[in-house]
Amino acid sequence: MIKMEKINKIYNQGKSSQVHALKDVDFNVNAWDMVAISGPSGSGKSTLLHILAGIDRQTDGSYLFDGKDISKMSDRQKSRLRNREIGIVMQDFGLLDGETVIRNVCLPQIIGNTYNREVKAGAKEMLSLVGMEKYLDKKVNQLSGGQKQRVAIARALNMNAKVIIADEPTGALDSENTESLMRLLQKLNETGITMIIVTPVSYTHLRAHETDSYLVCRLLLEKKKKQKKKDMLGQVKEQDHRRE
Ligand SMILES: Nc1ncnc2c1ncn2[C@@H]1O[C@H](COP(=O)(O)OP(=O)(O)OP(=O)(O)O)[C@@H](O)[C@H]1O
Ligand SMILES: [Mg+2]
Repeated sequence: MIKMEKINKIYNQGKSSQVHALKDVDFNVNAWDMVAISGPSGSGKSTLLHILAGIDRQTDGSYLFDGKDISKMSDRQKSRLRNREIGIVMQDFGLLDGETVIRNVCLPQIIGNTYNREVKAGAKEMLSLVGMEKYLDKKVNQLSGGQKQRVAIARALNMNAKVIIADEPTGALDSENTESLMRLLQKLNETGITMIIVTPVSYTHLRAHETDSYLVCRLLLEKKKKQKKKDMLGQVKEQDHRRE
C-alpha cells in the first residue's frame, strides 16, 4: 500500500537554516498493518507523516501510495486523496476551534460539498464510537486535549479512510486514556483500517511483543541511534552552524 524508497527531506535547502530532516528513509506499509513510528523529538516523525499524507513533498526519493506517485499528483488530486482515503490526526489536532464537534467531524464533506443527513448520522455514530456522543454541539475550544484527539479520530473514521495517520494521538492524554485510545486504534485496525501512528518509545516496547503486525520503525540514522535527544539537537545546530 505504501512504498517509500530513499526518501530525503531537506528544509530550507541551500540556506543557512537548512535541515536534513529525513535521510534515505525506506518505509513500507501493507494494508491492515499497524505501524508505530518512534524516535526522539526532531528525528523527522512529523515530517515523514506529512509526506505520507501528501501535505508536504519529499526533496528526493520515491513514494507510491497504492502504486500512485503522490508527488506527481495535482493539488486537487491530493486533496481528494486526503478527503477520501487518508485520515490524518495531527499533532496540533487540525480542528477548527470555533466550530462545533459535529461540524468538525463533517468538515471534509462540508468542504467537498457532499455533506448530507447521512454523513451527519455517520458522524454521530463515529463520535459515539470514540466516546464523544455527548459533545456534538460543543465548540472544539471547550474540549480537553484528549477529547480533541478523539474528535480528530472520529473525523478520519467518518471519511471511511483506508489509512489513518496519527501524529502522537496520545500526546495530550494521561496513561489510562492512552491505553484506552490505543486499544480503540487497535480495534479499528482489526476492522481493516491501516494504522500508522507516532507513539512514545515506551509504549511501543510495551506492545512490540504482543502482535507481529506491530512494527517499530526508527527514523534515526544508524550513527545516531544511541544519542540522547539533547546531544542530537546540539548536533543539528552544529551542522547548521558549519553551513553558514
Ligand atoms: N517547516 C519546517 N521548516 C524547517 N525545518 C523544519 C520544518 N519542520 C520541521 N523542521 C525540522 O526538521 C526536523 C524534523 O522535524 P519533525 O517535526 O519532523 O520532528 P519530530 O520527530 O516530529 O519531532 P517531535 O517529536 O518534537 O514532534 C527538525 O530538526 C525540525 O526543526
Ligand atoms: Mg512531530
